[in-house]
Amino acid sequence: RQQRRFNLKHVLITGGCGFIGSNFVRHTLENYPDYKIVNLDKLTYAGNPGNLTGVEKNSNYRFVKGDIADAALVGKIFAEEKIDTVVHFAAESHVDRSITGPAEFVRTNIVGTFTLLEAAREAWLNNAKTGPSKNTCRFLHVSTDEVYGSLGETGAFQETTPYDPRSPYSASKASSDHLVSAYFHTYGLPTLITNCSNNYGPYQFPEKLIPLVINNALQGKALPVYGDGKNVRDWLYVIDHCEAILTVLQKGRIGETYNIGGNSEKQNIEIVNLICDILDEKAGSLPNGEKRRSLITYVKDRAGHDRRYAIDAAKIRTELGWSPSVNFADGMRRTVEWYLDHKAWIASVTDGSYREYYEKMYGEK
Ligand code: NAD
Ligand code: TYD
Repeated sequence: RQQRRFNLKHVLITGGCGFIGSNFVRHTLENYPDYKIVNLDKLTYAGNPGNLTGVEKNSNYRFVKGDIADAALVGKIFAEEKIDTVVHFAAESHVDRSITGPAEFVRTNIVGTFTLLEAAREAWLNNAKTGPSKNTCRFLHVSTDEVYGSLGETGAFQETTPYDPRSPYSASKASSDHLVSAYFHTYGLPTLITNCSNNYGPYQFPEKLIPLVINNALQGKALPVYGDGKNVRDWLYVIDHCEAILTVLQKGRIGETYNIGGNSEKQNIEIVNLICDILDEKAGSLPNGEKRRSLITYVKDRAGHDRRYAIDAAKIRTELGWSPSVNFADGMRRTVEWYLDHKAWIASVTDGSYREYYEKMYGEK
């Protein structure tokens, strides 16, 4: 870690109040004192200031509530804070919501990314004399493996795999990736792209599979499994993702894409079973004496449900020396324990608007 440090970086984090962003802000401030962070977040349903309780006391941290698609605000932050590094997390991130309401995905994920790219181009290239030196600037765009589409039984996504997004979410992320790439090739903006597999860990909003199942299983509610439960995702503990991003930021080659994965493919049903078993062990059986697996309920499949994702992370491993450090069994235990210890957090984020979403999505209260 010591070796990887360089002079104080003025970092704009977008979406730092969300799941991965808040883990990244905490982890970076705790471990890399040479990073000064401005967190720009609109605080949508997915953004919770409570994810960063205590962090606001750090003198290397500032929070700005606002929209990444607000060009005037973004330009002001670049100038005021002499931003030389962007780590861009902000996005609409949930596939199911993109199916029922795609417009916000186009606005935030595509137009928002475009707005940030323009601000970086203005500050780093057009104002080269007054702005920070282009050589030390980095625009890191955090993206997803979902841009590559869906795999069959075998194979894994490589950085060269053609894009084939199939949901409004993945299409909007693919579009933003293309814009980032275009700004490198056309203007020479110093960009980096990371495409990561599914994350899990503390502070994940309970609309995504793992925290939703933990929350429902704690409350003795049905555990909705889409289709046959055999869709496969490649799971990565969130702090490993944060370390991968820091590695790419510090050592990655400009203009390159790096795939990030956990080398941990699981069927959804395996994960739901595992959560039930860990909770039975830690919190006891249900009040009626039954095991939590009895709550599993197969429901109608997601439209266009991608069958399997798997990442080939050889490039980041061999070129930059990163590999995941937390294995899935340990990471899941830690995650379930975190949710057991943070019931007040769950209660605070599953308020009225969450209940409304849940009722619409799963047809029950
Ligand atoms: P999240 O939904 O938990 O958080 C998104 C954050 O962005 C929230 O704090 C929200 O308030 C903020 N935001 C949304 N629209 C905004 C706007 N217009 N302006 C400013 N802020 C806005 O998402 P996450 O799971 O933490 O994902 C973060 C990033 O990582 C996303 O770009 C996502 O595509 C990518 N990613 C996620 C995963 C995963 O498994 N969660 C995997 C790979 C890549
Ligand atoms: P999710 O956490 O939404 O991530 P993504 O769709 O971006 O991979 O879903 C993970 C997997 O779990 C996916 O195959 C859909 C499935 N799933 C369910 O079976 N039930 C649920 O209630 C949810 C939210 C997801």
